[in-house]
Parts: sequence; structure tokens; C-alpha cells
Amino acid sequence: MADKKKMSVAEMLAAARKSDGGQPGESGNASPPPIQDSASDHGSPAADAPAAAPKPAPAPKSAAAPKPAVQPGGARPSVAEMLAMARSGKAAEVAPVATAPVERPAPKPKPAPPAAKPAAASAPAAPGAAARDTASILAAARKKDKPGPITKAEAAASATATATIEKPKLVAPPMPAKPAYATPQAMPASRPSAVEPRRDFFGTALAAGFGLLGGVSALWTLLTVKFMFPNVLREPPSKFKVGFPDAFPAGQVQEKFKAQYGIWVVNTEYNGQPQIFALKTVCTHLGCTPNWLEAEQKYKCPCHGSGFYKDGINFEGPAPRPLERYAIRIADDGQIEVDKSRTFQEEMGAWEDPASFIPA
Ligand code: FES
Repeated sequence: MADKKKMSVAEMLAAARKSDGGQPGESGNASPPPIQDSASDHGSPAADAPAAAPKPAPAPKSAAAPKPAVQPGGARPSVAEMLAMARSGKAAEVAPVATAPVERPAPKPKPAPPAAKPAAASAPAAPGAAARDTASILAAARKKDKPGPITKAEAAASATATATIEKPKLVAPPMPAKPAYATPQAMPASRPSAVEPRRDFFGTALAAGFGLLGGVSALWTLLTVKFMFPNVLREPPSKFKVGFPDAFPAGQVQEKFKAQYGIWVVNTEYNGQPQIFALKTVCTHLGCTPNWLEAEQKYKCPCHGSGFYKDGINFEGPAPRPLERYAIRIADDGQIEVDKSRTFQEEMGAWEDPASFIPA
């Protein structure tokens, strides 16, 4: 193989690109200038090894990202260029950038202020323009009818815009006229209120009820106190004086002590002996009070018609026996004293007792 020239590394890469169906710019007309390999110059066999060829940098894996195009002149796009193409979706419009010997990830662009977002979103990507920032990409991806996550600055701007919208003023309709019956009318001063009479009635009834209750309580207290003391008979004394004997003439029936003491003081004869004695004014039939009839000279009972003589002997009617006598005597002062604690009955022969009469 004496006539066959040994190929350098650059020639081997160009041949490989051609066989790979490379870009038009990568044809033999635009083949890069031969790289002077220092090793070849020195004729070192190690310089001919394929391992010495520079390896292309690995491209970031992305399902949606298009395959990076080779730059004219054989240079591969940098990572920043590939990101820009992926974001815009137009790899052909990516402006050619200078070949970077070292492929480094492009610095993350800072989000543009909210005011610049609409302009960036609406502005078409001009050919040859620089890579757009993240804010513009987000604004382009968002749709108006499908709200997505927004930043705090955008939310504040949206709230400000909403607040600035002027709301239409609500105009209340006029109130209807008030009817006459709804207007309060002042009560005349002379007319009493409908509540006052009822209040007075209840107040009076309440006062009367309490007054009656107080009276009953006081009466009950008095009766209770009286019950604590023994009953006392308010009767006239059994012994009393009726006057001197000359005040009772013979043949006379004195009635002035009938109402007060229930006796007749009689001066008459009994069995032929003049006597002064005191007769009890109680009928011996059923206890009625007979009357002295001066014209008829007898005692007559109004109840059943019993009649008694002046000395008290019964002679008509249902009375079974004569009237009774009380004890009588001359007191120390000479007056006649009657004692109602002792009685004398004629049928029992008690009228013979000297205590039952005073000899006249
Ligand atoms: Fe005097 Fe009957 S009570 S007669």
C-alpha cells in the first residue's frame, strides 16, 4: 500500500459525514480545512488511532425536542440553542450562533416583569431573534379560556384591573306614598287610654283582695286568742235585792223584775197566811213565759193556754203542776233579797219551807 496516502483525522471525519448524508453545507466543497495533527507531523503511529477523534457532546434527551441540526461548517448546536429550539418549536428559525467549543447549559433567564409579558407573548418570534425567556414562553402557552397557574405579580395586576372596572350604580326606585291609615295619629288628651281602665280595675281588685285577706287573718287571730281563755258566763248574780217589804203592798203582783230577773214579787195569802214570795216566770208545761192578767187576776200562758192563780197554783190548761218559788229573805239592811239558786215546788210540800216566803 505504498500509493495509498494515509488519511488524517479530519479527513476521516469529513468522509464519515458525507457517508451519513450530511447537510448541504457539509459537502466536499465546504470541507473544513485539514487539521494539522501534531502527531502526524511527527509520523507517530498513535496519532492515526480513531480514538483520537473528538466525540460530539451528548444532546439532552427529550421526546418532543427535534434532533439538533448541525451548524453550517460542521459545528453542533449548543445546549442553549437546543433549548431555544425546543421552546419555540421552530428549529429552522434558530439563529446561528457561534460555535462554542464547550457546550454548557444556558443560564436560566430571569422572568420578565408582568408588564412586558403580553408584549413578549404577542410578539412573533422573529427569525434570528435571541432565545425567549421563561415568562414569554409561559404566556404563549397559556390560553385565555383556560387559566393556569400565574405568579403573584400577575394576580396582583389582575386584581388591580378588576378593581378599576367601574360598576354601574344601582338606582333605587322611589318609595310609594304612605297611606293615610299608616300615619300615626296623636291621641286626644281628654280621651283615656284603653289600657288604663283595665289597669285600674286590676289594681282595685288586687287591693280589695289583699284587704279582705288581711281582715280574715285579723279575725282568725282574735278568735284564736279568745280560744286560749276560758269562757265566762255573763249571767246576773243569783242573789239580788228588790227593795224594802213596804214597797210590796198586800194583794199586789210586782212585774218590774220580770224582764231583768224573771220573777214576780207577790204579796198575797197562801193557805190563809199572808206572805211575800218570789214566783218563777216559767210555765211548768213546756217552759213558756206566762203573762200576769191584772183584770182576770191570773197568770196565763200564751203557748197552750195554761192558767195559774195569783199564788201560782195551776187551774187550767196542760200545765201539770203549780209555778215554782225562789228563796227569799230579809237582808241585813232590811231589804228583801231573792236567791235564784234555790227553788221550791208546791207539789213537793216545799212551800212550807220558811225560806220560800216572808211573812207579811
Ligand atoms: Fe205553758 Fe204549755 S207552756 S201551757
